[in-house]
Amino acid sequence: MPRRRSVPDLRPARRAVLKLAVSMGLALPVAGLVGAQDDRRKARPQVNDRLVFAGGDRKGQLITLVDLPAGGPPLTAYPMDPTARVVRDDSRLNQILLVRLDPTELNGDTRARAADGIVAYSAVCTHTGCDVWDWQPASSTIKCPCHFSEFDLKESARVLNGPAPRRLPALPLKVVDGAPTVAGSFVGRPGFETGG
Ligand code: FES
Repeated sequence: MPRRRSVPDLRPARRAVLKLAVSMGLALPVAGLVGAQDDRRKARPQVNDRLVFAGGDRKGQLITLVDLPAGGPPLTAYPMDPTARVVRDDSRLNQILLVRLDPTELNGDTRARAADGIVAYSAVCTHTGCDVWDWQPASSTIKCPCHFSEFDLKESARVLNGPAPRRLPALPLKVVDGAPTVAGSFVGRPGFETGG
């Protein structure tokens, strides 16, 4: 009589494979979601994005018209996807300078892109990329403390003084539900001379 060969019990191994498949099956969509969210955080401002405080006590909170008194000072914002509420803060080139000026003082292009006198520009200096500013309310200009470039926010942020090679890219705005909202892409490339 032939001897019976013992068959190894494959059930534990099968269970392990099943467990792995299930965990991978669940993990892949989660990884996909995380990847999609990362892409949204890096993307440049999109039409209908809302704007949120980039820092300070109210970091991440929605900026509304009452946060922007006439004559300044400027605020620094990040755009936020209004549906998924994803803040696009994974690129510092998405920092946006917002300030409300007298609409009658704006030149034609600037007025066309403004909403209720609020103008928006890339907050990254086009020289070597500093992103802090000295506000000069009497002239509605900003000065970069790194190498003293000055930009006129009434006139499409043209360079008045200093080594900056080009104006700050402007961002068209509109007002939706009492909040400044992105109405178009940056006019020009945000960034700076080297590495921007
Ligand atoms: S980085 Fe602004 S002037 Fe140099």
